[in-house]
Amino acid sequence: MNPVQLIHRPPFIIHHYPTLGSTNDHLKRMTDAPEFTCVTADEQRAGRGRRDRTWHSAPGDGLYLSVLLRPLLAPEQLPLLSLMCAVAVSETIARYNVAGTDIKWPNDVLVNERKLSGILIEGIAGADTPRIIAGIGVNLNHRDFPPELEQTATSLARECGHQIDAAEFRDQLLISLARWYETLRHGDGHSILNRWQQLSSYAHGKQIVVTLDDEQLSGVTAGLTESGALLVRTASGAMRTIIAGEVSRLRSGDQ
Ligand code: BTN
Repeated sequence: MNPVQLIHRPPFIIHHYPTLGSTNDHLKRMTDAPEFTCVTADEQRAGRGRRDRTWHSAPGDGLYLSVLLRPLLAPEQLPLLSLMCAVAVSETIARYNVAGTDIKWPNDVLVNERKLSGILIEGIAGADTPRIIAGIGVNLNHRDFPPELEQTATSLARECGHQIDAAEFRDQLLISLARWYETLRHGDGHSILNRWQQLSSYAHGKQIVVTLDDEQLSGVTAGLTESGALLVRTASGAMRTIIAGEVSRLRSGDQ
């Protein structure tokens, strides 16, 4: 399938389609694509989220973007790509003067505690240099959500009260991504860790519950490791390092 539009935003080349199953899946099939190839669609029929969830991808309402990266990074730095994407999304949202923006570890961007953006990072096995697809979904112009998301999701238009120009948002996001990716490629993971911690109330002193594959733990957040893992001090005083897991805020009244 040919893209309807090829849009040049150096170093990115965007292949834009009216409709796709999933932009991540489409980019994965473009086996010879160079680094910085992007795929976007007005609509995804099978948008995917983390943990095998679906990503609500209504036509024309959101940004559905996948970017191919071929980072020459030490393996322990690869998780920083996920934090980097969240930082870039959060900084782009900040341009719209929206109050209450937050990042829930590792990469959910929230506004007033509702999810506005989600990021799905996928590696492609078998290549000599790692091929990473960073899939970014941003709710831009949604006025309504399906009932199951109505209490937990929001859109930029809802938060700032006016229609959002999706191409303008995409271009600003790519500028921010390119900048942070350069930082990371120059070996400066600390700047990303610092910026993430500035933008996230989850970095320090937050009461959270973490759902892991085989256990659930609660505790208070205590910063990030060099690789972007979340440190959590549990009630027993033990420090746990969370590499993967579902984080939720402990609300007052919760156990
Ligand atoms: C999550 O929070 O669960 C991650 C959601 C990621 C959604 C984006 S939309 C563009 C790209 N294509 C997909 O199928 N998923 C990601």
